[in-house]
Amino acid sequence: MWKRLLLGLIVLVLAAGIGFFALAWRSAYDPIDPPGRTAFDDAAIARGAALAGIGDCAVCHTAAGGEAYAGGLPIPTPFGTIYSTNITPDPETGIGRWSEAAFRRSMREGVARDGSHLYPAFPYPHFTKATDEDIRAIYAFLMTREPVRAEAPANQLPFPLNFRPLMAGWNLLFLDEGPFRPDPNQSEAWNRGAYLAEGLGHCGSCHTPVNALGAERKDRRYAGGVAEGWHAPALDASSPAPMPWTEEALANYLRGWDPHHGLAAGPMAPVVETMKDAPAADIAAIATYVASLSGGRTASRRSADQVVAFAEERAFGPVPQVDRPKISAVQAEGLQDGERLFVGACATCHHEGGALPYTRPVELSFSSSVTGPDPRNLVRIVLDGIHPPEGQPGPIMPGFAGALTDQQLEALLIYVRRHFGNAPAWRELGATIRDIRGSDAS
Ligand code: HEC
Ligand code: HEC
Ligand code: HEC
Repeated sequence: MWKRLLLGLIVLVLAAGIGFFALAWRSAYDPIDPPGRTAFDDAAIARGAALAGIGDCAVCHTAAGGEAYAGGLPIPTPFGTIYSTNITPDPETGIGRWSEAAFRRSMREGVARDGSHLYPAFPYPHFTKATDEDIRAIYAFLMTREPVRAEAPANQLPFPLNFRPLMAGWNLLFLDEGPFRPDPNQSEAWNRGAYLAEGLGHCGSCHTPVNALGAERKDRRYAGGVAEGWHAPALDASSPAPMPWTEEALANYLRGWDPHHGLAAGPMAPVVETMKDAPAADIAAIATYVASLSGGRTASRRSADQVVAFAEERAFGPVPQVDRPKISAVQAEGLQDGERLFVGACATCHHEGGALPYTRPVELSFSSSVTGPDPRNLVRIVLDGIHPPEGQPGPIMPGFAGALTDQQLEALLIYVRRHFGNAPAWRELGATIRDIRGSDAS
């Protein structure tokens, strides 16, 4: 009896093991001799460059101060640090020996040439939606870059996560493999935008909240997420933007600046920067699709006219005044401190009459970083300022990290939130400030 039970158990474990390896096992693709420049035509390379821009390949695959596409950038995840790899055509340390089929499999299934599973820190759950033709163009673009010899550092992942075959299980649960399927009920532009945003653009990887295993929650698509210590605001109808995200506003923002939404300052900035070579029609299509996610609505449900009237009253009215009736004496004193700091540090540019190079900044009442549910972005913007991409002209805001104590910053932001935000105070503001400053200092 016991013997039989034991035997049964052993058979079961073996079967499960074999089943798992059958599921996880992927064959290696034969290495090829790196194809020369002449193997690819110019049109495909140019298209591949724009598509690689929409896919942010250079953003993740370039280390600080390193060669473009040579990898080695540490990508922090809740599970540990994963390093991007070298995707230049170097035969030893890059993808020089990868056939197009091996490259396509990595984009579609998250499996490397040698058959090992890749981690979804590489956004293949989105890239899987790209067409064969677009993947071929990106391959042509990458294989014609200058080969760079560079080995990525080893990932820092705890056991058992450092066991790559486990990703086969993850894929079974969360990977929806295969190219994008257009929705026949939508316009051509909408479908083009959905294809790019859901696929190569991988917008959801930052703007959608994730579950405990790091997969995007399908029931809360675009409800807001986190990226590199920043809040990636919701893009659905719960968008915290006071002015609705229209197609026009989105197209402006994705090209650099919109009069009602300002510009990208954090991890969104390189997304915008690398999209600059994309055809205007593609940016417009992404805008069409993303605008449809919110249906032109925002969480506050105020009309655009009301938002503009409020912003004008705040920005062009008499020098900021604190309305005090509903708050205690202690709070009022704090607000007064904040108000003084605002007048001294910010009002020259952010209040009426500020003369600036390039443009008057967007009204603070329009900014999601002031009205949104999470104070992180505002704290980071004030500490670090806003700087145009290296070597390019653009709006500049100085950082105030060296000028304000934690307490001053808190008082200032309580004031900014109350005066310009028209929203309830953030509970976790003080802790957020200490957190961000603590980790910046270390
Ligand atoms: C969000 C960051 C991120 C973006 C954006 C990104 N990658 Fe990666 N990629 C990674 C990481 C991290 C790895 C390593 C994963 C691992 O070790 O399992 C990787 C691995 C790869 C690999 C496997 C290489 C190898 O040697 O195993 C290929 C191919 C690749 N990426 C191509 C691309 C292309 C093409 C794009 C743009 C369309 C792109 N990646 C965009 C983070 C990114
Ligand atoms: C690497 C993560 C990341 C990716 C990928 C990303 N975003 Fe963002 N996005 C952010 C963050 C973080 C912010 C907050 C502002 C900032 O970074 O300046 C943001 C801000 C935005 C905003 C402004 C929202 C508001 O209310 O102020 C829009 C619109 C937006 N992103 C659209 C997109 C679209 C469209 C895509 C895909 C093409 C995309 N994002 C891809 C991280 C990302
Ligand atoms: C020298 C001028 C200058 C000063 C001083 C300044 N800013 Fe700015 N600020 C800018 C510019 C320029 C931008 C970016 C352009 C835009 O958003 O339209 C900006 C953007 C911002 C944004 C982001 C708006 C968006 O796009 O979402 C916030 C928030 C902000 N500033 C807050 C402050 C606060 C708080 C202070 C005082 C501590 C301050 N700024 C001081 C010039 C300035």
